[in-house]
Amino acid sequence: MDACQQYPIRLRINGQDRTFEVEAWVTLLDLLRERAGLTGTKKGCDHGQCGACTLLLDGRRINACLTLAVMQNGHEVTTIEGLATSDTLHPLQQAFIDHDAFQCGYCTPGQICSAAGLVAEGQAKTADDVRELMSGNLCRCGAYPQIARAVCDVMGIRP
Ligand code: FES
Ligand code: FES
Repeated sequence: MDACQQYPIRLRINGQDRTFEVEAWVTLLDLLRERAGLTGTKKGCDHGQCGACTLLLDGRRINACLTLAVMQNGHEVTTIEGLATSDTLHPLQQAFIDHDAFQCGYCTPGQICSAAGLVAEGQAKTADDVRELMSGNLCRCGAYPQIARAVCDVMGIRP
């Protein structure tokens, strides 16, 4: 197999159809950051262990560093850049601001996308559930209490 062979793929990214030619080994994370110009999704560990690269694929949260772009041909991707609508922040973005739920901000896009997936899953009923179901998203600054409060606020859960 030619390692440099490229494959055509089509993705719907933040509501826009985009086409790319990608090598088989390119991750979805690298495609977004380096070829689609969407650097909001962060690369932390690049090994599925930190959650910095979390985004929504067909509405479900995934780690973008763990999937190859060619595997997602025809699918829908929502990144942190796609959550706000025109000039209005997504409620989770506003809640993170209101609750001071970040320090350096590096983990924040992944935290917010993960929280959006969590809300859509509808499984979290308590603050402990929120903490458990967000445990794949690490924050080196230790902003966990504020992050949990922000997510609980949007979900109407008492923190
Ligand atoms: S960069 Fe993907 S989980 Fe860490
Ligand atoms: S705010 Fe700095 S890593 Fe989470």
